[in-house]
Amino acid sequence: MGKAVAMPTTPIDGLVERVDYPLYVVTAADGDEVSGCLAGFVTQCSIVPPRLLVCISKQNHTYRVAERVAGLAVHLLGADQHGLASLFGERSGDVADKLAGTRWTPGATGAPVLADCSAWVEGRVLWHATAGDHEAFVITADRGGAGGHLGQLTLRGAADLQPGHPATDAATTETVAGPGPH
Ligand SMILES: Cc1cc2nc3c(=O)[nH]c(=O)nc-3n(C[C@H](O)[C@H](O)[C@H](O)COP(=O)(O)O)c2cc1C
Repeated sequence: MGKAVAMPTTPIDGLVERVDYPLYVVTAADGDEVSGCLAGFVTQCSIVPPRLLVCISKQNHTYRVAERVAGLAVHLLGADQHGLASLFGERSGDVADKLAGTRWTPGATGAPVLADCSAWVEGRVLWHATAGDHEAFVITADRGGAGGHLGQLTLRGAADLQPGHPATDAATTETVAGPGPH
């Protein structure tokens, strides 16, 4: 489990602290590894064609798998799935095989599709690029379904969780600054 990191106050805080967004588990698999993490930084980013934007921390085991896969699966957690949120959000694939104790099947892209969720979508990674300390992945929405749990788990419902990796890290400062006039 990661250490609690004191985060500096920034101008965005007053906005984001008012937002209670749903939580997802994002999964990826290549020939060697399966991985997945809890993610709140997920949103639809196109209607036609339907696409999702998923932001994965560069600290995460899931990022290192996701950057070399063809597709990702995105699972909205049900309101009663705090336990699954803890597994995927507080533990890291660096030290635990989170998928080993979880019911899943490989999707069309190979991404693990979890049996237990509220709803899921699987799609191809169209592109990914740095967004700062997270990497932004835009995926198609080729397949989807329901997962037997109702509603949605939101950030406020999981406010007690401590991320398995620090949310950000000075090691990514040069990526945040980036080249060019930003
Ligand atoms: C409430 C909450 C929201 C999170 N949102 C994200 C997110 O949007 N993107 C992300 O990459 N990690 C997010 N995390 C952190 C990861 O889920 C966590 O560090 C996880 O242990 C990483 O697992 P991994 O190293 O196996 O990929 C969140 C964690 C919590 C508790």
